[in-house]
Amino acid sequence: MSEADSAQLDVTSIRQDFPILSQTIHRDRPLIYFDNGASSQHPQIVVQAMVDCYEKTYANVHRGIHWLSEQSSEQYEHARQVLGGMIGARRHHEVIFTSGTTAGINLVAHAWGNQHLKSGDEIVLTILEHHSNIVPWQQLAERTGAIIKFVGLTAEGYLDLEGYRRLLNDRTRLVAITAVSNVLGTFTPVTEMVSLAHDAGARVLVDAAQHIPHEPVNVADWDADFVVFSGHKMVGPTGIGVLWAKEELLETMPPFLGGGSMISQVTTDGFTPGELPAKFEAGTPPIVQAIGLGAAAEYLQSMGLRAISRHERALTDLAHQELMTVEGLEILGPATRDKSGIVSFVIEGLSNQDISLFLDRQGVAIRAGHHCAMPLHDYLDIRNSCRASFYLYNTNEEVRMFVKSLKNVVAKLR
Ligand code: ALA
Repeated sequence: MSEADSAQLDVTSIRQDFPILSQTIHRDRPLIYFDNGASSQHPQIVVQAMVDCYEKTYANVHRGIHWLSEQSSEQYEHARQVLGGMIGARRHHEVIFTSGTTAGINLVAHAWGNQHLKSGDEIVLTILEHHSNIVPWQQLAERTGAIIKFVGLTAEGYLDLEGYRRLLNDRTRLVAITAVSNVLGTFTPVTEMVSLAHDAGARVLVDAAQHIPHEPVNVADWDADFVVFSGHKMVGPTGIGVLWAKEELLETMPPFLGGGSMISQVTTDGFTPGELPAKFEAGTPPIVQAIGLGAAAEYLQSMGLRAISRHERALTDLAHQELMTVEGLEILGPATRDKSGIVSFVIEGLSNQDISLFLDRQGVAIRAGHHCAMPLHDYLDIRNSCRASFYLYNTNEEVRMFVKSLKNVVAKLR
């Protein structure tokens, strides 16, 4: 454990790194940003890394034999190394830059899925998945005739592991699971689920978009085959994310997108794919975004992922305690010990959109809606919900202010 991991987060100092948080909105309301599950904010150091690149070292990567291109290429590859180090990748060329989680899942669904699935094969998903980890598999099922099955929840809001065991069989080719539900905040037992899937001969994709920004992760410990996540949920920019996959899989998968950079040779008769990771990075990549994401990963590591996790879990504990004092409010999902920094709720008789709108007037940003997880809301028999999601820069005081504002809103709306 690093020194940063064992220390308490200095949230006052962290907040100074994020200028956007120190504004007041709607005249004089201090901004409380609790929509981190959708996208997080950016520390100055990440913004500056991107500005520095644009102002001093920008050129296309891996192409020009000139100083600027060498500088950009070096920084781009440095970012890959930082990301690989952060997730415990054994080989840096297993880290493929994508435009985000959705792009990573689509890449796997096409490049791996088209090759390995046929009619009657089965894909196992969980009812916790957001649309990015459902629709690409539905499209794959349409292309191949594969069948999709969903793992449900227990009455306490946990994944039904017994049901999962029963779903696995010798037709299961792929299991695609989130590591943390973007609605309920539930941690899924990734290592156990991967091991059971492997025993059944299936490959596993882990959607870690809500996990990697908040907790230490080692992909080797998970032993998953594919792991995807996004930059914009981990204090990095939009338009950049990572697909990590085992080298032996990436080697045998055909490229997804064709174009420049992903080839070793092209003739009028055809092409030979390039080496990893270029094989999966066709065209000019999001160079500056990758450099920004590298800076974001360094920033989070300097704060300590364990320390960030402890801080967020404490905020979640406090939020549960405070929210339980709001009349008619029901928190969705399990007890706090099994949750990350995400708290979704509904309030009897009130519209979630109205709650969010009125909270915004008091300076509090939450998300209301289906959170790109319509099947989960259907399963819970609700149309939508309110979600507060925390990050390293949020404070106990903000949680208390949020619940106080919520009580005002409830009083107004009733
Ligand atoms: N999946 C993202 C969210 O939870 C978009 O808000």
